[in-house]
Amino acid sequence: MNGLGRQLRIVMSERPSGPLEPRHFRAERVPVPPRGADEVLIRAGYVSVAPHARAVMQGPTYRPQLAVGEVIPSSVVGEVVEAPEGGPTPGTVVAAANAGWQEYSLVPLSAVRPLPRIGPLSHHLGLLGLNGLTGYFGMRSVAEVRPGQTVLVSGAAGGVGHLAGQIARVDGARVIGITSSDAKSAVLVDQLGFAAAVNRTSGTFVEELRAACPEGVDVYFDNVGGTVSDAVLPLLTHRARVVLVGVTSHYDADQPAPPSAALPVQAIAKSLRLEGFLVRDFAERWGTALEDLRAMASHGQVKVLEDIRDGLEAAPSALVGMMSGGNLGQLAVQLRPDPADWPTG
Ligand SMILES: NC(=O)c1ccc[n+]([C@@H]2O[C@H](COP(=O)([O-])OP(=O)(O)OC[C@H]3O[C@@H](n4cnc5c(N)ncnc54)[C@H](OP(=O)(O)O)[C@@H]3O)[C@@H](O)[C@H]2O)c1
Repeated sequence: MNGLGRQLRIVMSERPSGPLEPRHFRAERVPVPPRGADEVLIRAGYVSVAPHARAVMQGPTYRPQLAVGEVIPSSVVGEVVEAPEGGPTPGTVVAAANAGWQEYSLVPLSAVRPLPRIGPLSHHLGLLGLNGLTGYFGMRSVAEVRPGQTVLVSGAAGGVGHLAGQIARVDGARVIGITSSDAKSAVLVDQLGFAAAVNRTSGTFVEELRAACPEGVDVYFDNVGGTVSDAVLPLLTHRARVVLVGVTSHYDADQPAPPSAALPVQAIAKSLRLEGFLVRDFAERWGTALEDLRAMASHGQVKVLEDIRDGLEAAPSALVGMMSGGNLGQLAVQLRPDPADWPTG
């Protein structure tokens, strides 16, 4: 027993078949489980809301398919309550990827990352968390963006996309974004330095995309797949690189969509290089990357967009909305106020 009593958590109540709805989730109060020998008990300050949560409700990803009754998986930023000897002391502020939508998560000690006292705390889920690292390694290590190239980002106003696009811009590329609204596109161009942004829901999307990329696309940083990627394929230049980051358009269905029939023909005809990756592939280099990301933000080269909702109960509707583009930037829910002495900027 840990003396913490009961906690609120959110589980999958029913496997969705078709678009996600709030009824696929259930909030419940259960005892906080006892800590295993190598586990750290974390009290959540923020939990992420990410498309991966929808993906595992559908089927296996890099982790097994979620079972009915299981907690929705997420990253967490919070305070250590209990840890094994030699681990972080209680009160240490940490991040961990393998947590969930619950007030208290048990995470293996090896997966817990103590955070430097650099604020705002929520940035450690986005810019200084998995999404910033995904944009960083996707652009710098997989795409190997070079100055003057045209880089196209799908899901460009999302948590990964808005950071990835800015990193490519810092590296000298001309960056184009794809979003689902003119308002989001305007933010990318007016506030984040994208050269152009195109609305995927426009009746003239394909024509607008071609006009925005008159020299073609050298790097396609793809967060969404599906019909958006079908529209991009003809624009790819000879030896273009396609960075396969996520397939958000496939997640909100009972079955993943089949791959595009046009892809092999285009890949052969243009000597394309397609490469998927998981941000954890680069775990040994996260430290340097986080320093670079922090420097880019503190020099004003990269701006952070966040969409933080209040309270764990807001998480299901936030994820439902995300599946139709309802977020701008990093989506998360806040469960507790930041520690009183945590820096704010
Ligand atoms: N490889 C890795 O290691 C790694 C790490 C982190 C995340 N990811 C992946 O990166 C992607 C982005 O994650 P995120 O957390 O930053 O999410 P996000 O981009 O903030 O949110 C998802 C966005 O996808 C777009 N979208 C939703 N349904 C769509 C559809 N049917 N067709 C096209 N676009 C649709 C929406 O933007 P618009 O409506 O504005 O287009 C929505 O805002 C996800 O696929 C995620 O799984 C991969």
